[in-house]
Amino acid sequence: MATSAAAPLGERDAMRRAIALAARALGATSPNPVVGCVILDARGRAVGEGWHAQAGGPHAEVVALRAAGERARGGTAVVTLEPCNHTGRTGPCAQALLDAGIARVVYAVADPTPAATGGAGALADAGVDVEGGLLADEAAAGNEAWLTSMLRHRPFVLWKYAATLDGRTAAADGTSRWITSPEARADVHRLRAEADAVIVGSGTARTDDPQLSARLPDTEISQPLRVVVDTTATAVRPGARVLDGTAPTLIAVAEDAEVGHLDGLAPVVRLPRAAGGRGLDIHALLAEVYGRGVRSVLLEGGATLAGAFLAADAVDKVVGYLAPALLGAGPAVLTDAGIGTISQALRLDVSEVHRLGPDLRVTAVPRHQHAAGAGPSAPGRAAASHPAR
Ligand SMILES: NC(=O)c1ccc[n+]([C@@H]2O[C@H](COP(=O)([O-])OP(=O)(O)OC[C@H]3O[C@@H](n4cnc5c(N)ncnc54)[C@H](OP(=O)(O)O)[C@@H]3O)[C@@H](O)[C@H]2O)c1
Repeated sequence: MATSAAAPLGERDAMRRAIALAARALGATSPNPVVGCVILDARGRAVGEGWHAQAGGPHAEVVALRAAGERARGGTAVVTLEPCNHTGRTGPCAQALLDAGIARVVYAVADPTPAATGGAGALADAGVDVEGGLLADEAAAGNEAWLTSMLRHRPFVLWKYAATLDGRTAAADGTSRWITSPEARADVHRLRAEADAVIVGSGTARTDDPQLSARLPDTEISQPLRVVVDTTATAVRPGARVLDGTAPTLIAVAEDAEVGHLDGLAPVVRLPRAAGGRGLDIHALLAEVYGRGVRSVLLEGGATLAGAFLAADAVDKVVGYLAPALLGAGPAVLTDAGIGTISQALRLDVSEVHRLGPDLRVTAVPRHQHAAGAGPSAPGRAAASHPAR
């Protein structure tokens, strides 16, 4: 898409714009990253911009070059991820930039995948002025899910919950609608739209009969894969809202579960049971959805399944919606995460506190996930294969 070519735009501002463009496709590009690109002409004016909108579609650089046309010659490409150097479902971006006569490439984050990496080197070898690392932390934060999935060889997992200030998810009589405000609930739909998959346990499926689709007004959104972890295939019955066809669904069951009643209603995957524990093996579940192209998971609970994910060290980020209300009794937000004593408390670092109507949204990252380098500033260390962008 063409941009107005008025005043020159600094490279930092162009990168900020490219990061914002990339974010438009969150939830739509997996197994690929989100990428944004701005083309500056030889005088530094923005003459083209683009983003990678979906896997298999043109890369951000190609979209931006098309918009810029001949004005790209002698100009600068500002791109959030190192241009790829391989032919996948589309051709290499490094070559497209050379063909367009780009003189300088500024990228934020190095591509950590063996198949795609090397674009910066190829461009430099061809005489292009190449600089990496501009606004790398911001750009990596925008690609956090994909970068983490490349590093860990499993999807990035964001656990989301809603609770009262005293950590309850329902009252003593079981009523729970609604704990948080419409603003907070709308924000959850945004999280769903940005995720590749939403996962709930059989307890939540049984109690709430949730639809789990992303519902946002006036927005073109990509629907996540809805996954119910239902070991004995007894929670999701014909007529369940999660089977309504508004988004794809997957029911994860044990190898010996009787699933005849789900015939033709939803795909079923059989997984091993958790060793010595309850339910299904969490890592097998994550490997299964990773194999289906899922790079980001929104774990929506409930408390039992969240505890199992935390005990399996499979939560990368936590988003808690806290309502300024007290219940004094009722189920807690988390049960049995394998923590028995205060010294074992899972400590988190708060990365953001945001007000949503009357509620607070607290975003936090488990400290050991930082230590393991799963955070956004760890690009370049992954060794996973990179499916063709
Ligand atoms: N406030 C919130 O943010 C929020 C969000 C979601 C849910 N909720 C509430 O939470 C309640 C449900 O929570 P819940 O704790 O009862 O159920 P849950 O966490 O949704 O589901 C737990 C069930 O998942 C199955 N499961 C499969 N694999 C497992 C594993 N590896 N480890 C543990 N469980 C596994 C187990 O049953 P099987 O093995 O028999 O399948 C287990 O009983 C509902 O009342 C719902 O409204 C609140």
